[in-house]
Amino acid sequence: MATKIITVANQKGGVGKTTTVINLCHGLSLQGKKVLALDFDPQGNLASALGIKQEMGIYYLLTMGQNNKEERQFIHQTVRTTGRKNLWTIPGNQDTRGAQIDMSTRERPVSYIRQVLDIFMKNRLDYIFIDTSPSLGGLQERALWAADLVIVPTAMEYLSNQGVIKLTEILRVLHEKYRWNGKLLGILPTFYDDTTRQSRDSLKHLREAFGDLVLPIIHRATVLREAAAEGQSIYEHDPDSRAAEEHLRVVKAVLRAK
Ligand SMILES: Nc1ncnc2c1ncn2[C@@H]1O[C@H](COP(=O)(O)OP(=O)(O)OP(=O)(O)O)[C@@H](O)[C@H]1O
Ligand SMILES: [Mg+2]
Repeated sequence: MATKIITVANQKGGVGKTTTVINLCHGLSLQGKKVLALDFDPQGNLASALGIKQEMGIYYLLTMGQNNKEERQFIHQTVRTTGRKNLWTIPGNQDTRGAQIDMSTRERPVSYIRQVLDIFMKNRLDYIFIDTSPSLGGLQERALWAADLVIVPTAMEYLSNQGVIKLTEILRVLHEKYRWNGKLLGILPTFYDDTTRQSRDSLKHLREAFGDLVLPIIHRATVLREAAAEGQSIYEHDPDSRAAEEHLRVVKAVLRAK
């Protein structure tokens, strides 16, 4: 199978992007898939949520990724094991912001990240996941363009699908103007709360707007917050929880996606 690149994005903060990346990546690796998780967010939360330390690996990847063979070797050395079989990561930290500036100063093409990641494709990975920061700039745009599939988590706490609609518009532009070849895998409703009318209404509106593109829902669950705080995936922290079961449903949707 060719390596699939999946970018998880929403310019809105705190909607569950990093949580989604961790639990899909670990879920897929538990199914025997070889997975690499990349943290394109200068907050560096992905490493912390995996229980490992933040480093400037992504900075090196983004600033030196296209250079000579020796530097490519060096970038391979930035890949970290996570203590989990089949799951690797390149951690990021605040230096990722510098890489972002470098990328726009050098006016890198929209295909830049895809080109850089092609180096990693040769490594027999099944999936590369990209976690992104809550903003919409050149880095996010290139991370979206790099994707074969895009997942957009969105919190069901407030009646606001505006963020999702804006993001899908960007995808349309990337497709029409910049010949992006990927597609939207789905919108992932997160922080769902059965007891609130807002959650029910948000989900209803989402389904009206996006139909089959709405993925299985993730309820609001304290165990997810606890897992992240302890540097564990939900399968490590509480494998019998509803949150674990719900994430596995999304893992299956990813496995089915073409
Ligand atoms: N379904 C959920 N129920 C309860 N807490 C959650 C849920 N999903 C994520 N969280 C917690 O909410 C916080 C924000 O989640 P997360 O970091 O995944 O969002 P994010 O979209 O990556 O945020 P940012 O935009 O800052 O990168 C974290 O503390 C996380 O553990
Ligand atoms: Mg995040």
